[in-house]
Amino acid sequence: MKIITVANQKGGTGKTTTAVNLAAALTLAGKKVLLVDLDPQGNLATFLGHQPRPGAYNLLAAYIPGLASLMGNDKSAQIRSFIVSAERSQISILPGSAETANAQAFMLTGERDLNLIRQAVSEQFARYDLVILDTAPSLGGILELALWAADEVLVPVASETAAIQGAYQTIATLKALTQRGWQGCLAGILPTFYDERTVERREGLLHLQQAFGALALPPIHECTAIRELPANQMTIFEKAEAEKTNSYVRRAAQEYSALGKAILKG
Ligand SMILES: Nc1ncnc2c1ncn2[C@@H]1O[C@H](COP(=O)(O)OP(=O)(O)O)[C@@H](O)[C@H]1O
Ligand SMILES: [Mg+2]
Repeated sequence: MKIITVANQKGGTGKTTTAVNLAAALTLAGKKVLLVDLDPQGNLATFLGHQPRPGAYNLLAAYIPGLASLMGNDKSAQIRSFIVSAERSQISILPGSAETANAQAFMLTGERDLNLIRQAVSEQFARYDLVILDTAPSLGGILELALWAADEVLVPVASETAAIQGAYQTIATLKALTQRGWQGCLAGILPTFYDERTVERREGLLHLQQAFGALALPPIHECTAIRELPANQMTIFEKAEAEKTNSYVRRAAQEYSALGKAILKG
């Protein structure tokens, strides 16, 4: 089992969109994938047609001594009971909810175990080929533990020069974790919201490519088809199936398919 964490300390960079469509690409490639929503906003579940539920909270709580004692005896069964399947695909989801923030608050007050999420995911979800952790842009707390948990970290960054700072911050956090013994690696920087028709985005992409070299992955274009996915409760591949003649949808599906291949080649 491999853990991939999607992270950027900046909000709105396409993390959740990327987590969902990467999960879809890997599922289509025959992998057994679980998406875990570590963002208290809980919008990963709604993206794929489900309600936010305290799945992530129960996963974390089972490994936080003060909260674990409040759970039932069979914690694994309790955690598993929150897992749902995406409406139209084989992707499994452990939904998040506002309660995730309670677990985070509890972790911040007590002695913090850097390995908490890695241990929780490794013990509870060994049956999956890949577990993708979607994160919120909070510093410290859950994000740091989710990065520590990762075998690979994927950093979506908007293709704008101003957005690159967010990527540097996340890289700096990874460097600090490496000094503390982190064994994972950076899978890549994913330029998102790309548009070759604007100078700003072209320069933004160029900056990312110059700064990160081969670690800068092929970009994902900004497009309405991708923006509409949460409202449609679809992955880009389902939308491509439904709108076969729409060339923007096709391009977006190809881009996320390429991302899946890059991650599998890893
Ligand atoms: N390539 C894209 N083109 C157009 N809109 C996008 C694209 N990627 C994401 N979005 C939209 O931008 C917003 C932020 O994306 P999201 O994935 O939620 O980012 P994050 O999880 O980093 O906050 C959402 O409304 C999403 O639908
Ligand atoms: Mg998000």
